Amino acid sequence: MSLLINVDDYRLAARRRLPRRVFDYLEGGAGSESGMAHNRAALARIRFRPKRLLDVSARDLSHPIFHKRLPMPLAIAPMGLNGLFWPEGDLALARAAARNGLPFVLSTAASSSIEDVARQVDGELWFQLYVVHRRLAEQLVRRALAAGYTTLILTVDVVKNGIRERDLRNRFRLPLSMTPGALWDGLTHPRWTISAMRRGLPRLANFTEVAADDLDVQAALLSRNMDATFDWDGLAWLRDVWPHQLLVKGILSAADAVRCMRYGTDGVVLSNHGGRQLDECLAPIEVLADVRAATRAAVLIDSGFRRGSDIAKAIALGADLVLVGRAALYGLAARGERGVDEVIGLLREQLDDTLAQVGCRSLAELSREHLHIAPAPLPSMVESLPS
Ligand SMILES: Cc1cc2nc3c(=O)[nH]c(=O)nc-3n(C[C@H](O)[C@H](O)[C@H](O)COP(=O)(O)O)c2cc1C
Repeated sequence: MSLLINVDDYRLAARRRLPRRVFDYLEGGAGSESGMAHNRAALARIRFRPKRLLDVSARDLSHPIFHKRLPMPLAIAPMGLNGLFWPEGDLALARAAARNGLPFVLSTAASSSIEDVARQVDGELWFQLYVVHRRLAEQLVRRALAAGYTTLILTVDVVKNGIRERDLRNRFRLPLSMTPGALWDGLTHPRWTISAMRRGLPRLANFTEVAADDLDVQAALLSRNMDATFDWDGLAWLRDVWPHQLLVKGILSAADAVRCMRYGTDGVVLSNHGGRQLDECLAPIEVLADVRAATRAAVLIDSGFRRGSDIAKAIALGADLVLVGRAALYGLAARGERGVDEVIGLLREQLDDTLAQVGCRSLAELSREHLHIAPAPLPSMVESLPS
């Protein structure tokens, strides 16, 4: 096996193991995928301005959030269908997060149920809610509460599913269909195919037992669409139903962040869903400083984070926690739970390295003064760049 020394190496290993249409589902963004590239470009525009001649021999990566300290400011983002990448993928991700003392966010569209993950993983579990139907949402929230989940994340950037052209081209939909192309894809990726044949393909585990007698809910589920009527009144309703920490994911403006706080939420997750929803969208890192200035509540961020240095940039701009999506999935798809563990270890090592190189002993010392943010290139300059 080739050396795996950064997240990109795990990405290549994941691409080798997964059938094309499965890798494309993991990787793909909306539209032309300019949003995905923009997330990386916006992070790359931020450079470090190190401070010298400081004693950085002892360094501390721990960071506070919600009245506790995490060993590093990292959590695994909610992702649907993780069982497609590795058998019991949600459990593998959750266990790796727990071993490292980090939160794992279970998606509404998970392939292990709320209860199974809570029973089998001894770590900090958060639950992510998609509102397909109000009654269904309430059932899911009550199940998460009963199972001991500590934080609820309401995702608000999927009013409808993004147009992901890779999935359209591959005719990717559940259950996976068996076209001649898909058969060839499977045969040429035998490691994935053999494990899928042995362990079966994942299902949406949180929906298997619900509401068989509730025809409205069943119709909403069958339509595979979110409840696009869900609005600020819906958030007020959810605040009443969920008694613990509540975060809203998919926020991209200071005005919306402040409004969330007025509705009694405990924080926001700045996110463009990793470029999977609205293609030509701002990168969350571009709005972070404004949002931080506008609220004292928790500000979490994701989309495009692949290196420990990216995490350091977000913390310097005032984020409380960074979520990783694909970075964790590359580890999972390449080597299962061990791969996720290794990716977390790499991010930790790179974050520690960045701290030392910029002249900080702790993340609390990291500030805007350590950054230089280059202006965004004008579109005409982008066009004239050599390809
Ligand atoms: C395969 C995949 C499935 C996802 N499913 C969900 C989901 O079910 N719920 C959700 O809120 N976000 C979902 N997301 C978005 C992630 O939570 C996160 O916002 C995004 O992956 C961050 O960008 P990154 O992948 O560049 O780290 C998904 C992302 C991926 C890659």
